Amino acid sequence: MAITDDRRPVATRDVPYAMRDRLHVPRERYYDREFFELEKEHLWPRVWQMACRAEEIPRPGDFVEYEICDQSILVVRQPDGSVKAFHNACRHRATQLCKGSGRLPGGQIVCPFHGWRWNLDGTNSFVYGADGFAPESLRPDDIRLVECKVEEWGACVWVNMDPGARPLREALAPAADALDAVGAENMRVWWWKETILNANWKTAQEAFHEGYHVMSTHPQLTFGQGEDYPYSNVEYIPLENGHGRFLGRFDPTAGGISQGRGAEAFLSRSQTLWEGQDAMTLERDLHVFRGMRNRVPPGEDFATAAIKALFDYAEGAGIPLRPTPEGMRMWGGEVFLFPNFIVIPQFGNALSYRIRPHNDDPEWCRFEVWSLTMYPEGEEPGRPKLKGRFAADDTENWGLIPRQDFSNIERQQRGLHSRSFRQHRLATEWEPIISNMHVELDRYLAG
Ligand code: FES
Ligand SMILES: [Fe+2]
Repeated sequence: MAITDDRRPVATRDVPYAMRDRLHVPRERYYDREFFELEKEHLWPRVWQMACRAEEIPRPGDFVEYEICDQSILVVRQPDGSVKAFHNACRHRATQLCKGSGRLPGGQIVCPFHGWRWNLDGTNSFVYGADGFAPESLRPDDIRLVECKVEEWGACVWVNMDPGARPLREALAPAADALDAVGAENMRVWWWKETILNANWKTAQEAFHEGYHVMSTHPQLTFGQGEDYPYSNVEYIPLENGHGRFLGRFDPTAGGISQGRGAEAFLSRSQTLWEGQDAMTLERDLHVFRGMRNRVPPGEDFATAAIKALFDYAEGAGIPLRPTPEGMRMWGGEVFLFPNFIVIPQFGNALSYRIRPHNDDPEWCRFEVWSLTMYPEGEEPGRPKLKGRFAADDTENWGLIPRQDFSNIERQQRGLHSRSFRQHRLATEWEPIISNMHVELDRYLAG
């Protein structure tokens, strides 16, 4: 259910720098060590987190290591196609079992230190020199790998360290429905990159929870409208469980918030998005749209015709892009899944972000970006690989749009330390997704 009254009071809790209302966010929440430690103790071990894209582990024995603060979790594809997740620590003397990603040879997880082994399901299969241990040290239940909860949804694998966690879809409701509507299940990685930002993980992600910044930060996306840029045509919807989404108030048949209606406006906007980020609008879409130039009779709406052409193209190519009015209204909008996962869909593509603390430091974060798209059925590419870690101002590897966002993020983090500044001052109409996230965060931190 959407939260409609974003001015309702917030209970004061036994959390340092707690949210006292939905209009302000105390600055310490973005750099205070005690606050960060509370997140490590009460948020990350209890919340569902996107651990990897499902296509990273297509075959039995494929694994990915997911790191969050000082914890490491091993996600392993099972012989029956299901997934298991384990705390990534040897039951003998704690050594991390696997690093990065790869394939487990012979279907065995092997500790590099003394060679203990486990089957893919976490049961112990070998202890070297077992006769040298007291029998009570080697009870099978004690030496099997300790499992985390794991579920697959939306073409991603999700983990939760809390054995009592509620099911994923219950925790992601109702935001998950919006991603189902855009066909997130059918999306695969077009490219995947990351950067390290000198900013708190929340500072970084909050740069994407509103379109209010577009006029000033991304002037090229306002197409000369300047201060008349209609940021108010976006509806911001804070949701239960700390999630949120925003979407356009436009006619859904023309797909989302971001189209000019005439041919040249539409084409130039599409080209700017493609050149500016190679995501949400890809070259393939641009070709289809350009093919409609001079083919739309005067008086008919170019955006609607171009999008219809895209659906026809997808159908002919076997791309599982299925039009639904709810899905198309989300194009150019955002789905935010608490605490740190974002999807911005458009035309069967999407930008997707995951933002985590970096190096146990509240003032640094690891910011991953996926450009997702739908491939013709049967032509999905293999395991995606991280293209690399690139500096936030690297013009070779980041388009103009992400560079504009990144530069604000680090400056904002600096400003939080200013002696003049106490708390964010949020717009009730444009920034409610930010306060809603923090109120849910306090619920976790209160324990
Ligand atoms: S620490 Fe893993 S086998 Fe000894
Ligand atoms: Fe932006």
